[in-house]
Amino acid sequence: MKKAFITGIAGQDGSYLAEYLLTLNYKVYGIVRRNSTCEHQESRINHISDKLNIYYGDMTDALSMAVILKEIQPDEIYNLAAMSHVRISFDIPELTTKVNAVGVLDLLHICKENCPNARIYQASSSEMFGNSIDNDNCQRLTTPMKPVSPYGCSKLYAYNMAKVYRESYNMFICNGILFNHESPRRGSNFVTNKVVKGAVRIKLGLQDKLELGNIDTYRDWGHSKDYVKAMHLILNHEEARDWIVSTGVTTSIRNMCKYVFEKLELNYEDYIIQNPKFMRPNELNYLKGDSSEIREILKWKPDYTFETLMDEMINYWLNIYKNN
Ligand code: GDD
Repeated sequence: MKKAFITGIAGQDGSYLAEYLLTLNYKVYGIVRRNSTCEHQESRINHISDKLNIYYGDMTDALSMAVILKEIQPDEIYNLAAMSHVRISFDIPELTTKVNAVGVLDLLHICKENCPNARIYQASSSEMFGNSIDNDNCQRLTTPMKPVSPYGCSKLYAYNMAKVYRESYNMFICNGILFNHESPRRGSNFVTNKVVKGAVRIKLGLQDKLELGNIDTYRDWGHSKDYVKAMHLILNHEEARDWIVSTGVTTSIRNMCKYVFEKLELNYEDYIIQNPKFMRPNELNYLKGDSSEIREILKWKPDYTFETLMDEMINYWLNIYKNN
């Protein structure tokens, strides 16, 4: 039985990955942070909690991480823990750096000392590109990385450090540069779930307006369920290297709003207002990933389209509110 260790196991990706690895007969371990409202903390993994091995841990607590990894000796490590909200990273840049950058350095070093043969997946992000774009309007591994947020900078540090540890110590470490990926399990302060939840509430008469920031940016959105399968393929390939994971389809936030409100027979323009509170000091305007390598070499292919992803999220929120 292979052993997998997941940081961020209670998050959107961590929970889908844990489910997926259980179907592949892995023994799954993970860490969760201590939280004063523990009921909410583990809501995404409650349904499989009897099959998981959960420890308290934190990316900023290297001592506990070292003890846990030494004891488990995992075959595969998926580092999905992060302060993952780009706008909030402008409010708490130091914590963002401690968790997403220094925390990853600690993890890599702990692995080098305690479990050097474990295969390590680092959750890298398309936010690292900032506003760099190739002539064909795509981002790929060779596109210059010029982040425009504290979050992007922290992820770029971790990305580079993962490569340094791979090359210096011959460790099996891979960066998956994932473009935006969503699901009903997405936090509702990320734009897709915020829009879907808000639109459903408006449809049911539970709220009047939806306040957003800049709706003229573009994102390449996939489904988290498809993307966790890519993570597993990446770690089970013969060569340790970096990969782009994306759909290759980009949509503006405006068009996403239009799609969601139209599905609910509403006109988004009647309900959306702009609130400067949700604008960012600096913005990444356009993302569209070229994932041809992972499709060709690892035969990865997303099952969901933008439309089926959004439809699943709309149905999720309709069911939540109709049953309450
Ligand atoms: N969150 C949010 N809330 N975003 C808004 C809002 C709002 O009210 N209004 C407009 N937006 C715009 C943001 O300015 C941004 O351009 C876009 O919607 C997407 O925002 P998010 O959903 O917060 O995602 P993100 O692209 O900033 O970051 C996500 O994707 C990265 C990969 O590129 C996160 O999941 C990151 O952790 C991930 O690395």
